[in-house]
Amino acid sequence: MPTSYAYLCKRGDASKEYDRLKAEGLLNRDLKPMPYGELIAIPVSTGELKLDFQKVERNNPHESLKKILTDPPKKWEKLGDMVVFPQGTDTSDWPLEEVAEALNCNRVAIQNEIDPGVTRKSQLELVYGENGWVIHRENFVDYEFDATQVMFSSGNVTERRRMGEIQADGEIIVDAFCGVGYYTLQFLVRGKAKHVHACEINPESIVALKKGLARNSVSDRCSIYPGDNRQTLRQLQGIADRVILGLIPSSMNAWGLAIRCLKQSGGILHIHMNVHENEIGEWAEKTAEWFSTASGKSATIIHIESVKQYCPHIMHVVLDLEIN
Ligand SMILES: C[S@@+](CC[C@H](N)C(=O)[O-])C[C@H]1O[C@@H](n2cnc3c(N)ncnc32)[C@H](O)[C@@H]1O
Repeated sequence: MPTSYAYLCKRGDASKEYDRLKAEGLLNRDLKPMPYGELIAIPVSTGELKLDFQKVERNNPHESLKKILTDPPKKWEKLGDMVVFPQGTDTSDWPLEEVAEALNCNRVAIQNEIDPGVTRKSQLELVYGENGWVIHRENFVDYEFDATQVMFSSGNVTERRRMGEIQADGEIIVDAFCGVGYYTLQFLVRGKAKHVHACEINPESIVALKKGLARNSVSDRCSIYPGDNRQTLRQLQGIADRVILGLIPSSMNAWGLAIRCLKQSGGILHIHMNVHENEIGEWAEKTAEWFSTASGKSATIIHIESVKQYCPHIMHVVLDLEIN
């Protein structure tokens, strides 16, 4: 493995430090940053400490696939060391070991429709490799989950990054639909929240969340509330600076309880919803009005984020609302 000077920083600062080193021309772009104990080691061109780093893969995966398959798919996603091809991909006559090698991964899977039930169970089918557990790194945060059991929406990557960039130092946060920790881990690792109270109904997601918390060394700043949040949110009244309502198509069932979670002085809500592309502004105004009436306080729209197109004409949006 190649050796390089290493710049060490806390995991929560790694994304910012990486961008700074890049802007200052100090980053060694051919090598991959890596964990170093509790810290992150970023390869740089100068310094005192030298470490062995893995090389960044630069070969074109599409070209590599073309050498093996006659009509290779043009799209896929990667979850840790698992490559996931779109629903309907026929891999029955593929040399799967070679495909995995060409894409520098150890497992191959096919995506299927997410179960529309309340736990949004994954229906991903593993066609090559041992089991579904992956460690997926995004912005220096490690998510750990069984991809065959729980969903992990790659399309929400921008929203996870956005949540991680919010300076939440010292905040108490309620994550009403925490899943495997999409936003909980971002707020704890990068946003430096004081504590996250995380509600989740799916036991499989809770197992994954616990692993993710431990892997990122933030278990002591998260309390988990298993079960239906229509019950669990009742224990969390008047404590939160911020509540995340990350459920689509709608988190409406938890809106009233979310208001009650906020501190008496108010706070911020992140309300996810699937909305028709022509009705986003109108929906945001009406929602702000509803929250104002229900809370008896003012509700100010801070931002509307379009996360992704959910299906034709329907957008997954997030409304950031300040209640005070
Ligand atoms: C769709 S996932 C979160 C997805 C996430 N927003 C993302 O970035 O991909 C929503 C989570 O809410 C959980 N959930 C749904 N209804 C719930 C309820 N009533 N109480 C607690 N958790 C719930 C589901 O099990 C699931 O893990």
